[in-house]
Amino acid sequence: MSQFSKRICLAITGASGAPYGLRLLECLIAANCQIYLLTSNAGERVLEIEEGIKVPTEAKEKQAFFTQQYQAKPNQIQCFGRDDWMAAVASGSNAPDAMIVCPCSGGTLSAIACGASNNLIERAADVMIKERKQLIIVPREMPLSSIHLENMLKLSQIGVTVMPASPGFYHKPQSINDLIDFVVARILDHLKISQNMMPKWGA
Ligand SMILES: Cc1cc2nc3c(=O)[nH]c(=O)nc-3n(C[C@H](O)[C@H](O)[C@H](O)COP(=O)(O)O)c2cc1C
Repeated sequence: MSQFSKRICLAITGASGAPYGLRLLECLIAANCQIYLLTSNAGERVLEIEEGIKVPTEAKEKQAFFTQQYQAKPNQIQCFGRDDWMAAVASGSNAPDAMIVCPCSGGTLSAIACGASNNLIERAADVMIKERKQLIIVPREMPLSSIHLENMLKLSQIGVTVMPASPGFYHKPQSINDLIDFVVARILDHLKISQNMMPKWGA
């Protein structure tokens, strides 16, 4: 039996909003999830620009880097190469409990919507869709084109949860972290991972 509570695939792609992905990673670690962490090249570029994080190139180094940075348990975070088709998340026979693409670029949104599977992130999402497992995408773009909207509608209609990175203000945020937590808390709610960052409405 696994020592971890859930198996979650977290993909960080090249939309603005890297802090959402990192905060989610932190929360998933705290919830004792096993995390398959995938980062696109553009996602790594945005991580560097927005968070000053230089992600190592090699998968093993990437894994060691995030494990150390977030003080995760050994093997709690697993990283893979962009074309590592031997990764667990590449097959329906070993698909994780859920996958979140956070943030999700318009490019990855489009690739998922047409089933491109040209890299491990796209393939892992394709697996979640075909296996009818939980897939959440967190797109960020402004304005949204008809292409973005059509792709989101297509995914929503086949059961993908589209959670745009658009925090509310009714909880009276005092800081950027409060805004980030608003979005991450809603994602955790959908993953059925308990959180106390955002009280439930009316509770
Ligand atoms: C700093 C920065 C911010 C970006 N912000 C966005 C964004 O908010 N939304 C988006 O769809 N693309 C954004 N892009 C463009 C994507 O990174 C680009 O289309 C890339 O090809 C996406 O690749 P990926 O889907 O493999 O991560 C941004 C790029 C950079 C460098």
